[in-house]
Amino acid sequence: MARIVVVGSINMDLVTLTPRFAAPGETLLGDRFVTVPGGKGANQAVAAARLGAQVALVGALGQDAFGDQLLDGLQREHVDTSHVVRVDDVGSGTASITVAEGENHIIVVPGANARVTPAQVEKAQGLMARADAVLVQMEIPMESVEATLRLGHHLGVPVILNPAPAQKLPASLLKQARYLTPNQHELAILLGAKHDTDFRELMIKAPAPVVLTRGAEGAWYRDGGEPAHQEGFAVEAVDTTGAGDTFNAALAVFLNEGLPQAVRKACAAAALSVTRLGAQGGMPTRAELDAFLGGRS
Ligand code: RIB
Ligand code: NA
Repeated sequence: MARIVVVGSINMDLVTLTPRFAAPGETLLGDRFVTVPGGKGANQAVAAARLGAQVALVGALGQDAFGDQLLDGLQREHVDTSHVVRVDDVGSGTASITVAEGENHIIVVPGANARVTPAQVEKAQGLMARADAVLVQMEIPMESVEATLRLGHHLGVPVILNPAPAQKLPASLLKQARYLTPNQHELAILLGAKHDTDFRELMIKAPAPVVLTRGAEGAWYRDGGEPAHQEGFAVEAVDTTGAGDTFNAALAVFLNEGLPQAVRKACAAAALSVTRLGAQGGMPTRAELDAFLGGRS
């Protein structure tokens, strides 16, 4: 059983389903509204736990009703929340999401996620030392992302940096990641490159090995040598929110099977995740993933 530590955000996702996106100044009548658990950190933790890993999450919630519900949800998914703190002067993180035509628009208000500190990360050193992999994204303060990379590097534990939402980061920092997992757009921002640069060129230039997600087109990966491609798995997309998180979690969980196999499983898990509404809806269990892949080989 893989042991995974996730350092990252926890949000309540406020999801509106509508036939199309509204234009600025326009009012639309939507079809449906749901509140479901989300946040890149929590999503990755839940996806890894469903795939059978032993998972601990380092994060922060407010002392509000969303915080109670989100904590409860994580515990029901068997995520160790002993490193999730509650802060009392700011609310839990939220994401206002519009889903239309299988695509989404997301606005995240970090709230308590902005209070995840480097000291909190360092307190999880014991957990991290025993982990097979650490996952971190960029919805928490950058100094805490840095602390995670530094600590993982120091402990010799592979850290997967999912640079989302993206910003330009120095090579000295990126080097400490075992893998970077951007999409094409995020990779260009991360490296400060022009958007029309060929992503394979950027993958070769990147200061750490890159696993690049391409939505329905699967993923590209490179750990030295030439970039290789993994085809995507065709499914009917209901909601792509959280597909990247599912991908990252599976990558971490199956890393010990070698990169090509881990990427294949990550693409399959991500495909399954988009077949249901909500970031965490559709994230497969280990058995569901095996059945899906078994039917194909
Ligand atoms: O990656 C998807 C997640 O991004 C959503 O759950 C939302 O909370 C935002 O953080
Ligand atoms: Na989903």
